[in-house]
Amino acid sequence: MADKSSNQMWGGRFAAGPDAIMEAINASIGFDKRMAAQDIAGSRAHAAMLARTGIVSDTDAEAMREGLLTVLSEIEAGTFEFSAALEDIHMNVEARLKEIIGAPAGRLHTGRSRNDQVATDFKLWVRDQLDATEGAILALVAALLTQAEAGADWVMPGFTHLQTAQPVTWGHHMMAYVEMLGRDLGRVRDARKRMNECPLGAAALAGTSFPIDRHMTAEALGFDRPSANSLDAVSDRDFALEFLGAASICAMHLSRLAEELVIWSSAQFRFVTLSDRFSTGSSIMPQKKNPDAAELIRAKIGRIFGANVALMTVMKGLPLAYSKDMQEDKEQVFDAADNLMLALAAMEGMVRDMTANREALEAAAGSGFSTATDLADWLVRVLDMPFREAHHVTGALVAMAERKGCDLPDLSLEEMQSVHAAIRADVFDVLGVHNSVASRTSYGGTAPSEVRAQVKRWREMLK
Ligand code: ARG
Repeated sequence: MADKSSNQMWGGRFAAGPDAIMEAINASIGFDKRMAAQDIAGSRAHAAMLARTGIVSDTDAEAMREGLLTVLSEIEAGTFEFSAALEDIHMNVEARLKEIIGAPAGRLHTGRSRNDQVATDFKLWVRDQLDATEGAILALVAALLTQAEAGADWVMPGFTHLQTAQPVTWGHHMMAYVEMLGRDLGRVRDARKRMNECPLGAAALAGTSFPIDRHMTAEALGFDRPSANSLDAVSDRDFALEFLGAASICAMHLSRLAEELVIWSSAQFRFVTLSDRFSTGSSIMPQKKNPDAAELIRAKIGRIFGANVALMTVMKGLPLAYSKDMQEDKEQVFDAADNLMLALAAMEGMVRDMTANREALEAAAGSGFSTATDLADWLVRVLDMPFREAHHVTGALVAMAERKGCDLPDLSLEEMQSVHAAIRADVFDVLGVHNSVASRTSYGGTAPSEVRAQVKRWREMLK
């Protein structure tokens, strides 16, 4: 038999009656309690403003501000009882305030609505998260700079299409990620600057007839100014989307580095040894050390990008101003934020702890005819050959080495001269990987001197 309170025709499929189902779909307290501190900060600023503008008495505002601190301490101590019947964090806090201070609590909601309240709380939360993200990115950049500085002149193969292309330096490779994360930092800072307008006082959607001072609350909450259009203020979630966009790109960068670490730590590459702290063993294959942390970081982009797509989809097509759809913003952002922080922290730990295997890197750097371009450039520079012809001659030499099963520097001068008579002994100077990387001193090139200059530039910028 169906529950009495559920619909007689279809109620059998639902264990709960309509009231319980409505509460389950409507309540956000299960997740928006994470914004308790922001909600209380917003309400305290609002209460102070209501007193300053004479909308409520100083005594009432003081009672509200004190009472809100009590509520906060209860939440922090874990003694606060959250109620789903009270829907969300805003009503949970206000109801408890009423229990603590009585009637004056009823005046707190003057000149505001939950619509501007939730926009304010969530903005404050995202703003804090942008600051935390900035700190985590900076920590990872510091770990990469340390690696880059230590290995500014260690040679390794540079790849295109994951095929050996030209020798590069370990430091140069690390610094490539510093550049990516530097752009992530820029996006985070830029988003923070743009979002820093306060929705509080936009009220439900149209503003209010009470003589509120929105500049005062904006300033109290660390915003640059109040938002200028009340309709936009309560319906805007760009700040959350910008966070998710920046987080997605950053996670994508982490995923690429993670992929390299997975490849590099394999028995076939042996470019790096990851520390035990960020690896696991296999329960059946004793020889294995798996780069689990890297693999999970590589996968995190999935849920972060998913959150971005989910919220974009929620927002598209919503008419102005607030719609309840927007309550779906928070879980996506919370999940993405938690996982981005975790991925950044794990990557920082892995980068800090990993050891580059210099010998393996150097051996690999010299294989695969990686200095063929240096040879072609030498033919152009020293013999004044047109580059296209030099490319052809070099190709013939590579084919010869391939036939003999050796690398380019292993060919004798006579063998080289059999391909082109003018080749001289000093060609061997450019065939070594160290000379190859040292010669690439163009700005942003892989030469150790350039890498050290870039490390220095970054350190100065980050001061
Ligand atoms: N819990 C709601 C949310 O997260 C708060 C705003 C509710 N506003 C309303 N008019 N029902 O979006």
